[in-house]
Amino acid sequence: MSTDILFQPVKIGAMEVANRIAMAPMTREFSPDGIPGGDVVDYYRRRAEGGAGLIITEGMAVNAAGAHDGPIPLFFQEETVRASAAIASAVHDAGGKIVPQLWHVGVQDSPTEVNPTTVKQKPRRVGPSGLLGTGDLGGDTLDDNGIADTIADFARATRAARDAGFDGVEIHGAHGYLPDQFLWPRTNRRTDGYGIAADRTRFVVELIKACKAAGGSDFPFILRFSQWKTFDYDARLAETPDELGAILQPLADAGVDAFHCSTRRFWEPGFASDPRTLAGWARKLTGVPVIAVGSVTLEADFKESLSEETGGIAESAPRTKDIGTVARLIAEGEFDMIAVGRAMIANPDWANLVREGREAELRAFSREQLARLD
Ligand SMILES: Cc1cc2nc3c(=O)[nH]c(=O)nc-3n(C[C@H](O)[C@H](O)[C@H](O)COP(=O)(O)O)c2cc1C
Repeated sequence: MSTDILFQPVKIGAMEVANRIAMAPMTREFSPDGIPGGDVVDYYRRRAEGGAGLIITEGMAVNAAGAHDGPIPLFFQEETVRASAAIASAVHDAGGKIVPQLWHVGVQDSPTEVNPTTVKQKPRRVGPSGLLGTGDLGGDTLDDNGIADTIADFARATRAARDAGFDGVEIHGAHGYLPDQFLWPRTNRRTDGYGIAADRTRFVVELIKACKAAGGSDFPFILRFSQWKTFDYDARLAETPDELGAILQPLADAGVDAFHCSTRRFWEPGFASDPRTLAGWARKLTGVPVIAVGSVTLEADFKESLSEETGGIAESAPRTKDIGTVARLIAEGEFDMIAVGRAMIANPDWANLVREGREAELRAFSREQLARLD
């Protein structure tokens, strides 16, 4: 099958992306004191030069309480935003588009002291009910002021992204992090207006509206969501397409320009008894463009096992037959873009290799590659 369709432009809101290939967001922890340096700029530049139409950056923290433990970009610091502007500029020079992924871990991470130079007090983790998916306490329950402040932090980060020259934002609403904690009954036990019985989408709807107001209605807004959680691959937000629609439609109405549907295998059916993928369902149910992801050109999926030692990240040989499957699924209207994760760490020039028909040259992904910013 021809791969031409992978190299057709596509629009996400007001943003025109040159092709259908996105770099998936991947935390790399190479930003000491939360500030990405020249090595991080070059790392993203290489993927844009390698032909990816859209770069979605690693998760960047919107506030101290929501910052993952490790040297990730702390986007609530002015110096981080300034340093990130250099990433955006480098990607633009190479002809790509770029959005930062805005991240708040909620209670799903170990409490930590982030950047002691700017954050004096050890922040406590916060979530809708302070609960982890296991039922254990992971932090404090957000009260109404805490919710408003957290949403304001996402909105401020969106405005900062626009001012720094990014083309839009992606909100990390997947994998059991804060927005997902509100959507999931196991972590949202609230009995107020943000609870499951009243309206489980309320927090995310308010967040989207605040970010759209801060960034401007023409500033593209991508929402990443998933069924699975980082510590529970079998978890599900929605058991049926109807249930999925009841979650996604209010989010689409609030202003989502694209859904990024995070799955571990891009081709798998979203629900039993129908071959449509999760991304396909999101597109059919809402009419909003969708990005699919998961094990593209890799034999082994992202998290093969919940192994502590490997962080669940699987090594993998290349699997070139996926390229034809991706092209077919885009042609059939299943999804609009494909995000490539580990294969794009292993192959900064993934998109160019595919465009030139040189997929036989794709390199394997190994965990060693995570130790460097190649
Ligand atoms: C090292 C690494 C870091 C990741 N960090 C993030 C992240 O910050 N935000 C996110 O939404 N997903 C993150 N992911 C998940 C990827 O975006 C992607 O969904 C996953 O790797 C599956 O795609 P793949 O099979 O093509 O690698 C990460 C994955 C890897 C391998």
